[in-house]
Amino acid sequence: MNKKKIAGEKAAEYIKDGMIVGLGTGSTAKYLVARVGELVRSGLKIKAVATSKATEEQARELGIPLLDVNDVEYIDIAIDGVDEIDGEFNATKGGGGALFREKIVASLAKEVIWIMDDSKLVDRIGAFPLPVEILPYGYKVTLRRLNDLGLNPVLRMKGDEVYVTDNGNYIADLNLTKPADVIDIKNKLDNTVGVLETGQFLKMCDRIVVGTDDGAVVYEAANGAGK
Ligand code: 5RP
Repeated sequence: MNKKKIAGEKAAEYIKDGMIVGLGTGSTAKYLVARVGELVRSGLKIKAVATSKATEEQARELGIPLLDVNDVEYIDIAIDGVDEIDGEFNATKGGGGALFREKIVASLAKEVIWIMDDSKLVDRIGAFPLPVEILPYGYKVTLRRLNDLGLNPVLRMKGDEVYVTDNGNYIADLNLTKPADVIDIKNKLDNTVGVLETGQFLKMCDRIVVGTDDGAVVYEAANGAGK
């Protein structure tokens, strides 16, 4: 049983005619996008904003109408994967390197859904290295600063080359000492020059859709809109 597929396809049920849809990035989001492609072929009328070049390419191949994020005032629903998430819906994202666009899209959305297999549910986030997008200019200075803050940054590589995001930036993956205090880390990162965006998505969703051995399970955010 493919739990990521179960979650992605279940989440597609929340998409209705006329919506502007934020399409996430990653292996779980791929199933969502594939399902949206099928629905569009069957007559669903939506427009989508992609959170990465990879998702944009997949959506284009499937004939999903795309909008530039600059041309939308809001997004009706954004659906995306996570790397880990706790019981309060604090999530870590960016394992796939698309965190900056993912956060812009989620911040524009009236409704946010995170999709995942059940391995992503944790008591406390922090075990998955926290991705942080940093400016290439002075990146060694930024890495040194993050290191001095005790955040143990590792510059993300792709083979022998530095990994470059869709935005032309670098990623530092922070190996946090556990237990991670998310607010303390947020404050430190907010005040670090050179850090452009972080993979901390704290209480930023309305519901999560989890693929399990028994099918899809939906959990609503405690206070309705999670944002
Ligand atoms: C990409 C992301 C992904 O949503 C996250 O890494 C989860 O990926 P996957 O569904 O492949 O496990 O944040 O930047």
